[in-house]
Amino acid sequence: MTFLIQSAFVALAAISAVLCDPVVVPLQKRAPVEEYINTQYVGPVQLGNQYFLCVFDTSSYTTVIPSASCVSGGCNCANVHKYYSNKPVSNNVASVPILGSGYANGSEAHDYIAVSTLNATNQGFLLADDISNDICSLGADCVIGLGRPKSGRAAFNLPTVMENFVNQDNIANSFSFHHGRYPDGQHRGVLVLGGPIPAYYRGDFTYVPLVDQDTWNFKVDSISVGNEVIATDQLAFVDSSKYVITGPAEEIKKINDRLGCTNKVIGSRTLCVFDCDKLDNVPSVTFTIGGVAFNISSTYQIQQNGDLCYSGFQYSAGKCFHFGDFFMDNYYGEFDGQNKRMGFAKSVEEL
Ligand SMILES: *[C@@H]1O[C@H](CO)[C@@H](O)[C@H](O)[C@H]1NC(C)=O
Ligand SMILES: *[C@@H]1O[C@H](CO)[C@@H](O)[C@H](O)[C@H]1NC(C)=O
Ligand SMILES: *[C@@H]1O[C@H](CO)[C@@H](O)[C@H](O)[C@H]1NC(C)=O
Repeated sequence: MTFLIQSAFVALAAISAVLCDPVVVPLQKRAPVEEYINTQYVGPVQLGNQYFLCVFDTSSYTTVIPSASCVSGGCNCANVHKYYSNKPVSNNVASVPILGSGYANGSEAHDYIAVSTLNATNQGFLLADDISNDICSLGADCVIGLGRPKSGRAAFNLPTVMENFVNQDNIANSFSFHHGRYPDGQHRGVLVLGGPIPAYYRGDFTYVPLVDQDTWNFKVDSISVGNEVIATDQLAFVDSSKYVITGPAEEIKKINDRLGCTNKVIGSRTLCVFDCDKLDNVPSVTFTIGGVAFNISSTYQIQQNGDLCYSGFQYSAGKCFHFGDFFMDNYYGEFDGQNKRMGFAKSVEEL
């Protein structure tokens, strides 16, 4: 009897636990630090009584902040803010991958974290005494890992920021990005924590299930350039640390061949280059996801630095496409942790 009353009470409590409204975090693009690397968006984060600009990264699992004593790698860059602590340094040390190809090594630390109006106590993070250069090429101080919780990939198995905000601030287990290019040439964006906001998209969401427990990967039915299907049954995820779209060498080559660019070594990189005067007939690329076509025009695919025009489709290791900024400029993506799915809707271009 007691048990019955208790479970009835628990059920009632669950129903009456109304979720808080979603919270908007303004994002900004930093000036490029290195030629040919466009910066990614960063947003303001308060950790303890200190302020940082962090990349909210769907490909990382850990919150990573450089420590005051860090002088190697990315910590050498001017303008990187470091976290000062008067607490003794923990003996727990780890090395984690960040931002796709980078790394951070350091020790476990805890403090409260405030992002927009959300505030969680005892957020665990990696206080880095060594961090790869990626952080300064992006013009950021730090990384907030938005990877799936309980993946086993976070340093010290720490709960993610999203997990703590869901548990402590009672927001929905969902976040989304709106990125936009504006007629004045500026890029502006927001991260929405706690569910999508209708003002940022038009029409309905197309939802696709996540393919595993640990990543935001989903299936892409097919990829077409113009009217020609060049690949079917691919894996992808929306990577908020990437400016371009990267993918497996074979498929990227097929896309770039049909777009009509030519590989050239420029500095330390190979870029697929276009003649900037002959961009009129570059076809659009369409990703079919959940049976719906998501197309991207050449205006977005072609990157331009001065008189250098090059393809935004680039190689990366592995079998998975990383959909970066120029996909997100067109489509508002919802990372729905509650229902283990991704949602996509046409982004509202201007706000
Ligand atoms: C940090 O981690 C990287 C990658 O795991 C490793 O190559 C490097 O030696 C480490 N640095 C230190 C100081 O432990
Ligand atoms: C966040 O909460 C901590 C207590 O855990 C408090 O000291 C701090 O002032 C709060 N910060 C903000 C920005 O709300
Ligand atoms: C994308 O598809 C829509 C609907 O078919 C069409 O109106 C639009 O022009 C297409 N955009 C590109 C860049 O092909």
